[in-house]
Amino acid sequence: MNQEIILEACDINKSFSGVQVLNQVHLDIRKGEVHALMGENGAGKSTLIKIITGAYTKDSGRIFWKGQEVEINSLKDCQGLGMACIYQELSVIPALTVAQNIYLGREPKKGKTGLIDYKKMNRMAQELIDRYEFPLKATDIVDSLGIGLRQLVEILKGLSCNSELLIMDEPTASLSGKEASILFRIIDALRRQEVSIIYISHRLEEVYMLSDRLTILRDGKNAAVLEKEEIIPKDVIQTMIGKVVDESAGSRKTLTRNTNEVVLKVEGLTRKGFFENVNFEVRQGEILGFGGLIGAGRTEVMRCLYGADKYQSGKIWIEGKEYVPTSTRKSIAFGFGFVPEDRRGQGFIPLLSTNRNTALTNYDIIRQTAFSISSKEELEMCKKIIEKIDIRPADPEKQVGLMSGGNQQKVVIGKWLMRELKILIVDEPTAGIDVGAKDEIYHILEELAAKGVIVILVSSDLQELVRVSHRILVMRKGKIVKELAEGTVTQADILEAASGIENQEEVAG
Ligand SMILES: Nc1ncnc2c1ncn2[C@@H]1O[C@H](COP(=O)(O)OP(=O)(O)OP(=O)(O)O)[C@@H](O)[C@H]1O
Ligand SMILES: [Mg+2]
Repeated sequence: MNQEIILEACDINKSFSGVQVLNQVHLDIRKGEVHALMGENGAGKSTLIKIITGAYTKDSGRIFWKGQEVEINSLKDCQGLGMACIYQELSVIPALTVAQNIYLGREPKKGKTGLIDYKKMNRMAQELIDRYEFPLKATDIVDSLGIGLRQLVEILKGLSCNSELLIMDEPTASLSGKEASILFRIIDALRRQEVSIIYISHRLEEVYMLSDRLTILRDGKNAAVLEKEEIIPKDVIQTMIGKVVDESAGSRKTLTRNTNEVVLKVEGLTRKGFFENVNFEVRQGEILGFGGLIGAGRTEVMRCLYGADKYQSGKIWIEGKEYVPTSTRKSIAFGFGFVPEDRRGQGFIPLLSTNRNTALTNYDIIRQTAFSISSKEELEMCKKIIEKIDIRPADPEKQVGLMSGGNQQKVVIGKWLMRELKILIVDEPTAGIDVGAKDEIYHILEELAAKGVIVILVSSDLQELVRVSHRILVMRKGKIVKELAEGTVTQADILEAASGIENQEEVAG
C-alpha cells in the first residue's frame, strides 16, 4: 500500500454559536486508500468534510494537499485541487436534467461561441451512466426521480470530475442492495486507479468491507485511527458510541398480540406507470416489510395509501370499512403516521426549530386556548419526543436544518410518537442513523407493534428488513412478486426476488 499522504487536516477547530463541534481534529488520507470516517450522529463528520471542501470556514487549523499547505474557500478551490465531494444533503437541482446536473458549471461549449453544447453534454452524461449501468437517462428531469435515483445523480456528479480524492458522505443511504453493489464495484476500480476515497456510512458491514483504514470521531474529537487489520467491529462500535450494540440481534418473530385480525387490506391498487394491482393485508400489531430495488414502486404505493398521491383504481379497507385517502390531513386525523424517504423535501421544515416541527403535525392533540396555541404544551411535548428518541442537541429551539443528518431523521420519526396511531408507514426510517440510534428506533417500532399499531417498513437495508419485519413483501417493477414469511427469511431471498433472478413466480400480485 502506498504510504504517500495526499490530504492532511491538522488541529481543525470549529464552533457553531459557541458550541464547539470539532476540537483539534486530525485526518490524513493516503493515496489510493478507502478511508472510512466514522462516528455517531452529530459527531462532526459532515462538518469536517465541509471544512475540507470549502463549504464551511474553519475557526483554526491547517490543511495540506500533497504536502503543501492550502486554503480552500470554495467548491472551485476544492475542485481545482482535484477533490470532489458527494454531500449527504443531495445538492442536485430538481428543475434540471441529469446531464445538466452532472456538468453544472463545467458544461461543454460549442467551439468559440461560448454556447452550451447540449448534444455533447447529453452524450457525455449518457456514456457515464452506461459505463456504470445506472438506471437513468441523461435527459431525465431530476424532479421526476425518486430519492435513490437522485443519489445516483449526485454520485455521477462526483465521478465525472476525475478527481484524485473523492469524498462520499452517506452515498448509500437511500440505495438498495443492487445499486449499492454497483457503487462498491466503482469504488474498487477507483482504488485500483490510485484514487483516494473518504467514505462515510452508518451501514457498518459496507464500511468494514470497503475500507483500508478508518478514523473515528467522538463528540468532535479524534477517538481512534485504525489500520484494516486492527478493525474489530465490536470495538469500533464501542469507540464510536460508548456502548456495545449487538448488530445481529434478531427481533422476536412472533406477533405479541396473537390475533389474526386484519386491520388493513389493500385490493388491486394501481397507479399507472408506478405500480399495478397491488394486494396485501396487514394484521394488528404486525410489522410488514417491503423490499425491492430503487424504482420498484414501494414509495409510490405508500404515498397513495397515505393520501399524498392519487391512485387510479383499487380499494383500501381499514377495520372492515372502505377508506378513501383523499388527503394527508384526513389520514393523519384517522390515525396514520408517515415518515417519508425524502426527509429534507417532505419530512421537516429546515428553517423551523425542533419544537415547531414536532408541533406542526400535532396541533390537533395539543390543547388549544381560545386565542393561541399553548406553547407550554407544545414545548412539553417536544421535550418528551427529544427524550424518547434521544435527539441531539436536546434543544427544542435548535433549527432542524442545522442539525446533523441523523438527528434530522429522528425529528421526522419523533413527531409521530405522541399520537394514537393505527398505522405507521416508515420509508427508509434509519437512512443515515448511527448504529446505536438504529437499535433504539427498532425498539420503538417493535413497541408500537406490540401495542397493536400496524407498522409498514420500506427499507433498502436488507439486514434491517430481516431483523424488524414479521413478514416481507418484495416488489419489482411495480408489482408484488414475492411474500417471505416469518422466521425463514434471509437477505439473499429478498435480493433474489427483488432483482428477479430466480424463477419468476408471482404471488399476491
Ligand atoms: N450549519 C450549522 N449550524 C449550526 N450547527 C451545526 C451546523 N452544522 C452542523 N452543526 C452541528 O454540528 C454538530 C456536528 O454535526 P455534523 O453534521 O458534522 O454531524 P455528523 O457526524 O455528520 O452526523 P450524522 O451522522 O448525523 O450525519 C451537530 O451538533 C450539529 O447540530
Ligand atoms: Mg453527517
